[in-house]
Amino acid sequence: MSKVYVHPLPVRIWHWANAVLFLLLVATGVQIRYLDLFDYMAFGTAVQLHNWVGFALIANFFVWLLFYLFSERNKAYHPEFNIVKLAQASFEQAKYYGWGMFRGEHNPHRIDPYHKFNPLQRTLYQILMLFLLPLQFATGILMWDIKRFSAFVEMMGGLRVVSTVHVLIFIFFVFYLFFHPYLATLGHTPTAHIKAMVTGYEDVEEEQPAS
Ligand code: HEM
Repeated sequence: MSKVYVHPLPVRIWHWANAVLFLLLVATGVQIRYLDLFDYMAFGTAVQLHNWVGFALIANFFVWLLFYLFSERNKAYHPEFNIVKLAQASFEQAKYYGWGMFRGEHNPHRIDPYHKFNPLQRTLYQILMLFLLPLQFATGILMWDIKRFSAFVEMMGGLRVVSTVHVLIFIFFVFYLFFHPYLATLGHTPTAHIKAMVTGYEDVEEEQPAS
């Protein structure tokens, strides 16, 4: 095994702050939305906390965005425009997760600092960071001050549409909070990827087949 520096400090700071803020947003969001089912926090406190933590999450997003905008490490997020190549590589990776991994086969993805994500991770993280999170921020801000943003709310189809989009993305993220940490345990040891998100260094096999 050799060590490769894959997660620079700003990404690691962003990531763990993001995870903590996310958990707070889920806890307060559930209390706000499902008031009739849960009662672990006063409604007013949940709303206040949700707003403050939401703005902290948005500010934290800019740590991630500015870092990648001004770093050549953003190659990790570059899309693969060759659909056939993307589909084949994604299929190989899915086959590994669903079958090869349990038979001790090698991960088809070769990690290097500019290609730290396998094709499935790259697609998921592109959708997450460049579409779902910004949309969640936008719908959250609109509902934070409905009067001030009433014109935008109407443009999006009304409050019901805005709030439904916000809740649907929230439900997606709740599932993601189970799925993502599970996938994070699938390194060469269960804690390898998680340690890498703390230290920055990922262990990489010397002789890996090319993807
Ligand atoms: C709370 C438990 C969490 C754990 C244990 C965890 C673990 C990890 C690990 C090990 C990685 C490294 C790459 C990989 O394996 O995919 C990673 C990357 C990533 N995680 Fe998490 N994560 C957590 C929460 C979250 C949350 C709540 C989000 C919400 C958006 C998130 C979004 C991401 C993204 C976008 C990346 C890629 C970051 C980059 O390098 O640009 N994670 N996570």
